[in-house]
Amino acid sequence: MSILYHPSSKTFHLTNGRLSYIFQILRNGNLGQLYFGKAVRDREEFGHLLECNHRPMTAYVYEGDKRFSMDHIKREYPTYGTGDFSAPAIELVEPNGNRVIDLQYVSHTVTAGKPALTGLPATYCEQDNEAETLSILLRDPVADVQVELLYTVFAGYDALARSARIVNTGGQPLHLTRAMSLCLDLPDCDYDFIHFSGAWSRERQRKDRRLEQGVQSVGSVRGCSSHNHNPFVILKRPTADEDKGEAIGFSLIYSGNFLAQAEVDSWNTTRVLMGIHPFGFDWKLEAGESFQAPEAVIVYTADGLNALSQTYHSLYRSRLARGEWRDKPRPILINNWEATYFDFDEDKLVNIARTAHEDGVELFVLDDGWFGARSSDTAGLGDWTPNPERLPRGLAGLSERIEALGMKFGIWIEPEMVNKDSDLYRAHPDWIIHVPGRPASHGRNQYVLDFSRKEVVDCIFSQLHALFSGAKISYVKWDMNRCITECFSAALPADRQGEVFHRYILGVYDLYERLVTAFPHILFESCASGGGRFDPGILYYAPQGWCSDDSDAVERMRIQYGTSYCYPVSAIGAHVSACPNHQLFRTTPISTRANVAFFGTFGYELDLNKLTEAERALVREQIAFMKQYRAVIQFGTFYRLLSPFDGGNIMSWMVVSPDKRTAIVGYYKFLNEVNGPYRRVRLKGLDPALDYVVDGKESHYGDELMHIGLITTDGSAGECQPDDRKSCDFDSRIFVLQASDQ
Ligand code: GLA
Repeated sequence: MSILYHPSSKTFHLTNGRLSYIFQILRNGNLGQLYFGKAVRDREEFGHLLECNHRPMTAYVYEGDKRFSMDHIKREYPTYGTGDFSAPAIELVEPNGNRVIDLQYVSHTVTAGKPALTGLPATYCEQDNEAETLSILLRDPVADVQVELLYTVFAGYDALARSARIVNTGGQPLHLTRAMSLCLDLPDCDYDFIHFSGAWSRERQRKDRRLEQGVQSVGSVRGCSSHNHNPFVILKRPTADEDKGEAIGFSLIYSGNFLAQAEVDSWNTTRVLMGIHPFGFDWKLEAGESFQAPEAVIVYTADGLNALSQTYHSLYRSRLARGEWRDKPRPILINNWEATYFDFDEDKLVNIARTAHEDGVELFVLDDGWFGARSSDTAGLGDWTPNPERLPRGLAGLSERIEALGMKFGIWIEPEMVNKDSDLYRAHPDWIIHVPGRPASHGRNQYVLDFSRKEVVDCIFSQLHALFSGAKISYVKWDMNRCITECFSAALPADRQGEVFHRYILGVYDLYERLVTAFPHILFESCASGGGRFDPGILYYAPQGWCSDDSDAVERMRIQYGTSYCYPVSAIGAHVSACPNHQLFRTTPISTRANVAFFGTFGYELDLNKLTEAERALVREQIAFMKQYRAVIQFGTFYRLLSPFDGGNIMSWMVVSPDKRTAIVGYYKFLNEVNGPYRRVRLKGLDPALDYVVDGKESHYGDELMHIGLITTDGSAGECQPDDRKSCDFDSRIFVLQASDQ
């Protein structure tokens, strides 16, 4: 791994031996992008990649020189006003109204390791030899503004982290109206643009489209990263697939409004921009103030999308997620939400927990409805004290009863929200995000607290600190059930209203940071009406997140498959729920519900007392299975095998342990078939020379399982083998492969 600089050609070459990122200081002081892709041998000079040609009807930088046009040069951190008409990375307004800026190279430094970003989540190093960071200082002498670009190249990951910090070094205030985290100009547009879109209860569905001239983008202006789009896109060569070919991933470590955009110009150059969405963004920089843009992580692969995902999985699992729970297999939990909704008392909860404990569940989670006047979703948010009618001995009493059973105890909170029917709102009606004199939209009868205000965050922190200190709390589910609509803060002046969205997220991060620091033993799980804020930013504080409110096993296959493109299995909250399913009214076998939820943090979201004895026996087997294999599943190498987005009838994925001696294959059928086809699934990631025993029966070498495949023909294929189970709609199987010792 190294960051090389060649003074003679003013060229930077960032490489870890597998990828190369090359750019140059141009004649006019700007930075020009030369190459990003598979590693190339270093050399003094890559200037030929600049391709300066005379093109008619173009604006040139130097008088009399018809070969140096910013309209054609690929750039690192472009600005408007230089002849470049594609979208810029940064925009600001000077006091005289001027928007033209020009960023010139000043200096650079290379340091071992990776610095933290103040107030923002980011990837990190544990040892300085894990990464190297290049810091480049650019400056516009007229606006008196500096930009510090950070580039980190990692030794162990084919990833490059980027961010930007803008400093007003002059004496006048400036307004920053766009501050992207990354720009990457690519020399052609021969890519598919892949993004992960959806809505509540159908998050992160994979969408592919071919890049074309013009702008293609996804983003959010909802104040959260959203169910609708994820801050993650991939550019994939059309011939690349899961196992081969080039692709570049772009992921933003941020939980608020974002934009991910690919703009193809008239010469088929592609400019990728990623960062805070410029919609409504206007950050006032007083003299001497700075603005830190979030971090974006680019991953390059020459070996297909599984390899790209695996880089994100290992980087985010071990160098973005933090804390005591980062590397630990996650507890098997039971959550009472779908079991009781708001209808519970202490005895009912203990009854659910006791039965779950008998079956092997380790953690009981009390969901919504335990606090304030919260007997429905119309009241109580903001008042984080236990409701004495439901919990006469408070959370302390309930948590002691749960721990006495031999289980851990966790609770649900929604700290960013308030109902008008709450003591908090009655005391502080101006603490909600709203425009004075205009109606404020509610969502689920609730309003968003103005977390851009420190006193609001302080108030919620002190309530939660008292709560977590006063009971035996091992786990917290942090929910967020509506987006921001009328974005305005009663506490900020007119010329700072464009800061509210970002200040809000900084407030969320501040509260998270204070709580994870004060309660390091608590496992935090994020949630936002399911997966409405399932992004890398939150992963820095909460190592797992409730992936979707849709707990139907079949829908979950798509949602979890889509989620796996960026996020590790250890981050994906997945539970077995009751049937008919509460979102879809579909009935699926309890085995399939577990077989899908195994590929996540695993738990139950139902009252096990309501199951038959036969079902309870299955539940006990499921829990025993998960306890045996969760370390492999949550921390092994994950492979997608057969996609639910391809329109086929089978979906499959697998994990392989780091030593490749254990593998778990999940195999799922949508609808049953009559006289169905013979089927084989080609496995991935095994050791070709190891002999794997499949489900404790026959054995096959890894090469055979990968090249010929695992036979999965089932009872729907004509005459079955005597031990074949009958197949049904939504049938599924888990195969356990264990290398034999001979
Ligand atoms: C959201 C969450 C659910 C549940 C409810 C409680 O919808 O996603 O899991 O916690 O809130 O109100």
